[in-house]
Amino acid sequence: MNPLLVALDVDSAARALELADALRGTVGGFKIGSRLFTKEGPALVRRMAEAGDRVFLDLKFHDIPNTVAQAVESAVETGAWMINVHASGGVPMMRAAGDAGRERAAALGLPAPLLIAVTVLTSMDDTVLASVGVQRSILDQVVALAGLTKQAGLDGVVASPLETATIRATCGPDFAIVTPGIRGASAGTSKDDQHRTMAPADAVRAGASFLVVGRPIIGAADPREAALAIGRELAG
Ligand code: C5P
Repeated sequence: MNPLLVALDVDSAARALELADALRGTVGGFKIGSRLFTKEGPALVRRMAEAGDRVFLDLKFHDIPNTVAQAVESAVETGAWMINVHASGGVPMMRAAGDAGRERAAALGLPAPLLIAVTVLTSMDDTVLASVGVQRSILDQVVALAGLTKQAGLDGVVASPLETATIRATCGPDFAIVTPGIRGASAGTSKDDQHRTMAPADAVRAGASFLVVGRPIIGAADPREAALAIGRELAG
């Protein structure tokens, strides 16, 4: 499938649906994050899922296992295709999330959602990580959390493209790696607030399964053409 997921980082369902209409067929799916979800709620996810869109519901659940399991059940009920939690919630929390997602989907006759864990937020550096008590490097922490994610039976992780090759080497070929921070080549020259970036084709070569791209597409004068250009780079 097309690995390109477009981050719908906009503030209204109307704009999100307009972008989805323009981009449908040129991308693999759409990411809805906490801003848009908090404004527009599950109705938007349901509407897009019913239109046949793959929706990555990026709400990064992090709570006690029982609460996360129930949140994942609610996410599955919207028809979301991919759902995420924080790996730092630990193996029992991730296992509860995975079990709940698979069981709720089976009960509803839906395909099992992809359950993904966030390793280390891309906004963190080694100093910020140390300030919350983690002394090892970002790379070591990401690889350790990816290992726990795999142990918990989840489908993959979110990580920066710079960590992708190491995760791919340690977690194997069947583990999904979702990478934001895509810039350069067909994804444009503006880095915005992204620091650890990689061009689309390089990220896929490094082992990324899915690329999350926001502003280079949704901020382009012609979003459809911007998505097609990334598709051409990936195909080449
Ligand atoms: O930068 P871009 O608009 O392509 O962002 C796409 C996604 O990347 C965002 O929805 C966010 O989840 C993530 N992001 C990130 N680190 C940043 C900025 C955005 O991981 N510094």
